[in-house]
Parts: sequence; structure tokens; C-alpha cells
Amino acid sequence: MSLVTTKEMFAKAYDGGYAIGAFNVNNMEIIQGITEAAAELKAPLILQVSKGARAYANRTYLMKLVEAAIIETGLPICLHLDHGDSFELCKACIDDGFTSVMIDASSKPFEENIELTKQVVAYAHDHGVVVEAELGTLAGIEDEVVVAEGHASYTRPEEVEEFVSRTGCDSLAIAIGTSHGAYKFKPGTKPQLRFDVLEEVSKRLPGFPIVLHGSSSVPQDLVAKVNNYGGNMPGAIGVPEDQLRKAASMAVCKINIDSDLRLAMTAAIREHFALYPDHFDPRQYLKPARAAIKDVVAHKLVNVLGCDGKAF
Ligand code: G3H
Ligand code: 13P
Ligand code: ZN
Repeated sequence: MSLVTTKEMFAKAYDGGYAIGAFNVNNMEIIQGITEAAAELKAPLILQVSKGARAYANRTYLMKLVEAAIIETGLPICLHLDHGDSFELCKACIDDGFTSVMIDASSKPFEENIELTKQVVAYAHDHGVVVEAELGTLAGIEDEVVVAEGHASYTRPEEVEEFVSRTGCDSLAIAIGTSHGAYKFKPGTKPQLRFDVLEEVSKRLPGFPIVLHGSSSVPQDLVAKVNNYGGNMPGAIGVPEDQLRKAASMAVCKINIDSDLRLAMTAAIREHFALYPDHFDPRQYLKPARAAIKDVVAHKLVNVLGCDGKAF
């Protein structure tokens, strides 16, 4: 098995009323935790690499680690560029062998978003690679870009048909109330995604795969663990899992999760050092961190995405 695109994964997910998990990867333990869970549960996977991850880990290391995961698991895995911000970055990833790229020009005016997306689609399709684009702006932090709450905006359904037909993109990320990071909703408020926007978008784009970014749920037991062991994350609140499950049963075929993995890893390492303050062998604390990632991913695959058993 070699890397696959999302074409077949999304077609099956759309028809089957489930979604594929797109998990961000930055190092070996994260890749192992995710892929071990997916292998046990026979789930198709998208492993995504941000510009920051590429800078942190080095492009060759990440590529080779993902190749190793395919050899170890035999799973259909798509390697995706998360939040590509330029044609050059998307081209570099396509040339490296990624099977999917995101061009995120969502903060640009509509016409500029279309032009840049079209340029990436032309190069990607010539190389057998699929493209995710974005319309609407999520609040939160990606790489060094911070979108303040007031500058976030929901996707306008009346724009999606023109955008998709003019760009030729293969999937579309939309803004319906999710946001990046661990602080998505104000404490005391009731998180509610805009399912009316999702419904209207999918009515206008029948059969077309929709993507949700910013979909960590920020489990409160993990936040408590971080805080119990010396952390300080007051007011960390995520997207309710039942709402993500509902989105997955609709047109949403890809759900992006990163913060929950970061939280699981950090909680495990904090706990480990609190229990064993004399430890200094990295394997001693990275092992429980990897196991914590595996647990979180297994939970998502079964209870949120519904893609367990769908790999083959
Ligand atoms: O949406 C962004 C992802 O969580 C990746 O985060 O850009 O800090 O690697 P990063
Ligand atoms: P979270 O911060 O909610 O995990 O979102 C991750 C994401 O959207 C990556 O593109
Ligand atoms: Zn994102």
C-alpha cells in the first residue's frame, strides 16, 4: 500500500454518513499513537502536516515516518498539507509526494481566494493530487496567524457553488462555529455549531465533501489532569462531540483534530513527571504520551467520526 488521495475515502464517507479523521503530526510518537489506534480499528486516515510541523521536524523526516507507518499498518493513508498559505508551499509538498494539499486563502478577498486556489488546483491535478480550499474564516491560531474572534465569519452559502465550480477544488472547508486551539467558546456559554449553514451549503453542493477545521473537543478530564499537575488552562472549552458526530453524518467527510492530541500528550507527560520526578530517560515519559494519543484517537474514530472498520 502506498499513500492514497482522499477521493475514494470521501466518496465512501459521504455515502456512509461518517467522516475521516485528519490528525496533525509533528514527530514519531504522535504518528505512532495515531496509526496504532487506526490499525487496531481498521480506520482510513489522513495525516496532516502544517507549515510549522514541516519547519519543526524537517520535511524528509515526516515523509519517511509516514511511509514507515504505512509499512507497519498497511492502512490507506493520505498525507495532507494543512493550511498551505502559498502556491510555492503547496507545490513543494506536491513535489515531495503529498497526496493532498490545502490552500488556505480564506482570509483573502473572494476573487483572490479563487485565483490562488485555481493556480494550486491546476498544478495539483496535473500531479494526481487533490486540493482542499476554504471559504469563511475561523477564529483562533494556526501557525503564527491569529484570527481574533471579531474577524471570524461564517461561510456564506450563496458563494459556494461559484467558488467550487470556478476553482475546481476537491473539498471545501467551511466556517460554522468551530475554531482553532483549546479556547473555542466562552465559559458559561452553550457551544452550538451552525447546522443551518452546513445544510444550506450541502444542498447547493450535492455529493461534495465538506471539511471541518478546529474540531477538537478539549476533554475536560484532560484539562483537569494538566491543571492538577501544575498546568494553567482555565476556560479551555471545545466542540461538543455529539455535534461533530452529527456533522459527520451529514456532508462533512473530514474532521481536523490537533489540540486534543496536544492536550493528551501534555497531560500524560505532566502526570508522569509528577509521579516520577527522578525520571530523565525520554522513553519513560514519551511512552505514556504516545499511549495517551492512541487512546484519544481510538475514541474519536469510534465515537466521533464513525470510521472504524472502513479502511478496506
Ligand atoms: O490548525 C492548525 C493546526 O492545529 C496546526 O497547528 O500550525 O501550530 O502546527 P500548527
Ligand atoms: P483544533 O485546534 O481544534 O484541534 O483544530 C485543528 C485543525 O483545524 C488543524 O487544521
Ligand atoms: Zn485548521
